[in-house]
Amino acid sequence: MRALAVVLGSAILLAYVASSAGALSLDYYDQTCPKLEYSVRGAVKKAMKNDNTVPAALLRMHFHDCFIRGCDGSVLLNSTAKNTAEKDGPPNISLHAFYVIDLAKEAVEAQCPGVVSCADILALAARDAVALSGGPHWDVPKGRKDGRISKANDTSQLPAPTFNISQLQQSFSQRGLSMEDLVALSGGHTLGFAHCSSFQNRIHNFNSVDDIDPSLHPSFAAQLRKVCPAHNTVRSAGSTLDPTVTKFDNVYYKMLLQGKSIFTSDQALLTVPKTKALVSKFAESQEEFEKAFVKSMIKMSSLSGGGQEIRLNCRVVR
Ligand SMILES: *[C@@H]1O[C@H](CO)[C@@H](O)[C@H](O)[C@H]1NC(C)=O
Ligand SMILES: *[C@@H]1O[C@H](CO)[C@@H](O)[C@H](O)[C@H]1NC(C)=O
Ligand SMILES: *[C@@H]1O[C@H](CO)[C@@H](O)[C@H](O)[C@H]1NC(C)=O
Ligand SMILES: *[C@@H]1O[C@H](CO)[C@@H](O)[C@H](O)[C@H]1NC(C)=O
Repeated sequence: MRALAVVLGSAILLAYVASSAGALSLDYYDQTCPKLEYSVRGAVKKAMKNDNTVPAALLRMHFHDCFIRGCDGSVLLNSTAKNTAEKDGPPNISLHAFYVIDLAKEAVEAQCPGVVSCADILALAARDAVALSGGPHWDVPKGRKDGRISKANDTSQLPAPTFNISQLQQSFSQRGLSMEDLVALSGGHTLGFAHCSSFQNRIHNFNSVDDIDPSLHPSFAAQLRKVCPAHNTVRSAGSTLDPTVTKFDNVYYKMLLQGKSIFTSDQALLTVPKTKALVSKFAESQEEFEKAFVKSMIKMSSLSGGGQEIRLNCRVVR
């Protein structure tokens, strides 16, 4: 499969060919690290107690990892003297809580040294973040390897909050992900927070006619403008992506249908019938949302990164 991709000459294809069904498995560490999942969950749970933004951060981190070079832990690597890493690339304002992965890795290394990849730990931590926030629990296929490449410039390949539906569709389909995956994974915004800079385009100087994006509910837009004035200088200012930010639920979709979404890329889901129908379906049924979310998470978290090692410290290559 990989050789074929090289022949096709497409770096994108090479990086994102989903791992073949056999590559990851549910029982991957059953013999070599039986207490793995218990240790990771412990680290996530402890961190959440002190900081309720940890679940959103872990989910975001995993998504970011998988969308760049596949799920290979590249997002966890520190910059070095010669290389600026992904985590220091432009959208890094949304990334934090790397220490949670460090703590989980330390706990795991103490039991089974050199066995479990950082990419697997991140996939498990993201699942735990969802489950511990009242969302679904699912079994995570494991066996990812850690990559050695992490480039700040690659963050330009992430779907941007300003994307319209065709840009979103292209970004997802390049990774083998469908429109249903797009709508289901957008539901991860139920736990998110956005800085003003990522939705400024909707509330100031929207276009030559309107100052504010007319698809926004007027009173909601007014609230956002209060928190994020035109020349906002408060770096931490912004808005949660739904009003129940610590609870994994389908409120995000309900708000979206009322014109109360934060990003252009959220509103974009209402601009074509297919994705709009899915938004309505998930707004009506938490159960349908959870089912679709789990399916899409497993698909996304199986994007192969072609990593080859098990790091000892998630921030440095071996
Ligand atoms: C990685 O970077 C963080 C933040 O700059 C720093 O605190 C940490 O010591 C670094 N870790 C390693 C192993 O280089
Ligand atoms: C984000 O990246 C910039 C370089 O683009 C760097 O100067 C800054 O320290 C990074 N911020 C965080 C929070 O990592
Ligand atoms: C990113 O790419 C641009 C042009 O392709 C280059 O000028 C720049 O040095 C690169 N930055 C990093 C951090 O690699
Ligand atoms: C989305 O944006 C791209 C780039 O600006 C543009 O070419 C395309 O026509 C837009 N598509 C839609 C559906 O608005």
